[in-house]
Amino acid sequence: MRRKIAAGNWKMNGTAAALNELETLAQMMPEAAPEVVICPPAPLLFRAVDAAPEGIAIGAQDCHMQAKGAFTGDISAEMIADTGAGFVIVGHSERRDAHEETNSDIRAKTRCAWGSGLTAIVCIGESGDDRAANNTLDIIGGQLAGSLPDGADGANTVIAYEPIWAIGTGKVPTLEQIIEVHDFIRARLITRFGAEIGDAIALLYGGSVKPDNAEVIFRAENVDGALVGGASLKAADFAPIIAALA
Ligand code: G3P
Repeated sequence: MRRKIAAGNWKMNGTAAALNELETLAQMMPEAAPEVVICPPAPLLFRAVDAAPEGIAIGAQDCHMQAKGAFTGDISAEMIADTGAGFVIVGHSERRDAHEETNSDIRAKTRCAWGSGLTAIVCIGESGDDRAANNTLDIIGGQLAGSLPDGADGANTVIAYEPIWAIGTGKVPTLEQIIEVHDFIRARLITRFGAEIGDAIALLYGGSVKPDNAEVIFRAENVDGALVGGASLKAADFAPIIAALA
């Protein structure tokens, strides 16, 4: 059976006090919860690992594409693994955009993540213009092929489909649109990696997932969870999303 994952991306929000949410979240989680991952800002990683109750894993929001060196301000996958975190998001659209990250950068970051034993959450997603021009599947296919190295499997990789136009906007694709893209990603993974591996890689949906829409989104066969931004900051919002996946 494929893993089910509810991942929270705190982005550039929260100081140490926000880590109190982890304990609150653990208390609100259903017994048979899916995998839960919280990705706080990098300065909180060590403390987050210490503060995380059983059942909550910690991830970073980015890693560098090289293992070490003269890259002031950057963070390597090894440093992330050293905190005890188990996941790292790579290729988020906010980094593709603001930091001009390319598919090949993201492929290199993914390799670094794997090299340090981290599970890479590889993000892909089309812009509003891409969708309006009917280019969604071309864009998704290109990002998937370009960002994912050979060697992906269900343990080292999770794919997050995040339509850029749905991030932080309150706009959510229709269930049919989500199904179309997730089925397409699944088919591409199976073609590239074979049925066993292609079927084992979890696919998350991200973009304005909230307590009131999660249950519908999780109905899609190839949606194995969510990558949640704003609604992951407060346990009271994230817990119902986790429950909808359980
Ligand atoms: O990585 C999660 C994200 O980009 C979605 O953000 O706030 O729309 O849930 P949000």
